[in-house]
Amino acid sequence: MPTHTVLVTGGAGYIGSHACVELLNAGFKVIVVDNLSNSKSESLSRVQQLTGKTLSFYEADIRDKTALTQIFANEKPTTVIHFAGLKAVGESCAQPHLYYHNNVFGTLVLTEVMQEHNVKQLVFSSSATVYGVTELTQYHEELPLGAINPYGRSKAMVEDILRDLAEADIKNKCEYPWKIALLRYFNPIGAHESGLIGEDPNGIPNNLMPYVAQVAIGKLPQLSVFGDDYPTPDGTGIRDYIHVIDLVRGHIKAIDAFNTEKFSDGNCKAYNLGAGRGYSVLEIVNAFENVTGKKINYKISPRREGDLAEYFANPELALKELNWKVEKTLHDMVADTWNWQSKNPQGYK
Ligand code: NAD
Ligand code: UD1
Repeated sequence: MPTHTVLVTGGAGYIGSHACVELLNAGFKVIVVDNLSNSKSESLSRVQQLTGKTLSFYEADIRDKTALTQIFANEKPTTVIHFAGLKAVGESCAQPHLYYHNNVFGTLVLTEVMQEHNVKQLVFSSSATVYGVTELTQYHEELPLGAINPYGRSKAMVEDILRDLAEADIKNKCEYPWKIALLRYFNPIGAHESGLIGEDPNGIPNNLMPYVAQVAIGKLPQLSVFGDDYPTPDGTGIRDYIHVIDLVRGHIKAIDAFNTEKFSDGNCKAYNLGAGRGYSVLEIVNAFENVTGKKINYKISPRREGDLAEYFANPELALKELNWKVEKTLHDMVADTWNWQSKNPQGYK
C-alpha cells in the first residue's frame, strides 16, 4: 500500500501535536504547516523524539497562498487535517475581524489550494460551540446550529462553506469529489502519557483544566469556580471532557472512513467527538485532588457570561459510522494532565 501523506495545519499546537504522534505511529507521512502564532516548534521536536520518526515542518501561514501552493507542490499530500485557527472566545468578541480572517479566510485559501492540487480529503476541527442554545443537554448532530460568539460563528461559517463545496461536487458528479469530516469537539483535556507534549497556553488559561493544573503547581493562587447556582447536582457547570488522545484517534478513524461506502460518492458529514457524559467543575477539582494528592484552592465566583449549565455529546453517530468511541477515563485525563504539567512547569520554555 502506498504511504498516505497527511498535511496537518496547526500541527504544532495542542491537539495538532498529539495528532502528529498518532499519525506517525499509524504509518502516515506527516507534513506540518503552522505559523507558530500560538505554539512553539519544540512541540514538534518532542513529537519526533517520542515516535522515533521524522516529519516535515513548514513555518507558514495558511492565508499565504504562495507558500501553501509551494508546499502542496513539494509534498503532494493526499489528505489534510485542518487544526489551524484561533480559539479564544473572549478574544474573538474583542477582535472579530482577526477571527474571521484567520479561521474563515484561512480555510478559503487552504481549500482553494487543495482544489487546485486535487487534494479533496479534509478533516476539519469544528466545535460543540456551533450548536445553538437549546433545552436539551445532550447534543446530536441534527440539532439546529446557532453559535453565540464570533469564534463559534467562524466555525459554523466554515462548516457551511465546506458543505457547499461537497454539495457542488456531488451535483456535478465530479470524478474526485470532496470527502469532508466536520469533527465537533467537546472539551479536550489531558496530554500524551509520556508527559513530553501537552497543552501550553499563553498567559493565564481561559479553560478549566489548564487553570486547575497551574493552581496545583503553584503558578496561580486560586481557581475561581464560575457559579454554584446552576440547576446541576452540585450547582457547578457540567461539560463533556474528552482525552486529547481519544480525540485525535477520531481523526484517523475519519480518514479511514473516507474509503468506505459512506463517502464513496463524496460527502461532508458532521460528527460529535465527545464521551456522552459530563463532569461538573467540582468533580474535576476533586478528581485532581485525588490523583495528585494536592489541595486545589478555590473560591466560588459569579457565573461567566455566555456559559451554559450543562451539555454533553451524543456520540452514537461517530460510533456507528467511524467505529470510534472514547477509551480513556477521568483518572487518565487528570493523571496525564498532571504528568505533563509537573514535568513541564513552564510549558515548552
Ligand atoms: P492551538 O492554538 O494549540 O493550535 C492551533 C495551531 O494553529 C497553533 O499551533 C497556531 O500557531 C496555529 N495557527 C493558528 N492560525 C494559523 C494560521 N493562520 N496559519 C498557520 N497556523 C496557524 O489550539 P488547539 O487547542 O490545538 O485547537 C486546534 C483546533 O481545534 C482549533 O481550530 C480550535 O478552534 C479547535 N477546537 C479546539 C478546542 C479546544 O478546547 N482546544 C475545542 C473545539 C475546537
Ligand atoms: C470554552 C469555550 C468554548 C470552547 C472551549 C474549548 C466559552 C464560553 N466557551 O468552553 O467555546 O470551544 O472552551 O476551548 O468560553 N470554569 C470555571 N473556572 C475557570 C474556567 C472554567 O469554573 O477558571 C468552568 C466553566 O464555567 C465551565 C467549565 O469550567 O462550566 C469548563 O470551562 P472551559 O474549560 O472554559 O470550557 P467551556 O466553557 O465548556
